[in-house]
Amino acid sequence: AQTPASMLAAGKFIVDSRYATTEQEESILQDITARFPNVVLMKQTSQLRAMMTIIRDKKTPKEEFVFYADRLIRLLIEEALNELPFEQKEVTTPLDAPYQGVSFSSKICGVSIVRAGESMESGLRAVCRGCRIGKILIQRDEETAEPKLIYEKLPVDIRERWVMLLDPMCATAGSVCKAIDVLLKLGVKEERIIFVNILAAPQGIERVFKLYPNVRMVAAAIDVCLNSKYYIVPGIGDFGDRYFGTM
Ligand code: URA
Repeated sequence: AQTPASMLAAGKFIVDSRYATTEQEESILQDITARFPNVVLMKQTSQLRAMMTIIRDKKTPKEEFVFYADRLIRLLIEEALNELPFEQKEVTTPLDAPYQGVSFSSKICGVSIVRAGESMESGLRAVCRGCRIGKILIQRDEETAEPKLIYEKLPVDIRERWVMLLDPMCATAGSVCKAIDVLLKLGVKEERIIFVNILAAPQGIERVFKLYPNVRMVAAAIDVCLNSKYYIVPGIGDFGDRYFGTM
C-alpha cells in the first residue's frame, strides 16, 4: 500500500511551496521579467499553481471555475495593490507603543475591459471598499480588424487617479492597448496605470510595453504562445465564456 512516505520517496508530493517550473516556462519567465522590469509576476507557489491547474482544466465545471478564479483574482489584486504608493504613518498600539507603519496615499479606481474584465470587479471591491469602477467596451472592427472603442463609462476625475485596469487574458493585447490609449487621452498618467491580468502571452506583453513602456503589469502566469485563432496556449480557453457560463 502507498504510504505518504512512499509517495514522497516516489516524488509524488511536492513539498516545496515554490512550484518547480519546467525549463521552457523558466526560460520564458526569465526572458520576460529581465526585458520588462514593469512586469510583476506573482510568486509561483504550489498553491497558485494548484488554482491555475483547476481553472485551466477543461473538465472543471462552471461553479468550480468561478470559485477558483475568484480566489486567484483576489490574490492577484492584493499583489497589484503593492504597486501603489504608500506613505509613512505612525500609530499607537493598545500597549501605548508607537508603531511606524504605512498607509495608502493614492486615489484609485478600477476600469474593467468588458466582458471578461468584469469578472475581476468584485475582487477589487472586496479589498478596496467603495472603490469607483468604470468600464470600457472594445470590439474588433470587422473591416480593419483594429480594436475599436464602443463604449466607456469612467469616473469624471479619472485623471487624478491611479487606475487598476482589469482584463484576465492578454493574448494579442489589442484591447488592453486600446483601453490604455483611451485612459491616456483622458489625462491619466501612464505610470499610474496598473494592468491586472491573470494570464498573458509573451506577444501581448511585448506589444503593451513597446507602446506604453511606463505602465505596470501584474500577472499570475505567462504562457508559451498563441495559436492561429489567437488563443493563449496552453491557456485557459475563453475566460469570459467559462466564467459567465456562456459556452
Ligand atoms: N481571451 C480568452 O478568453 N482566452 C484566450 O486564450 C485569449 C483571449
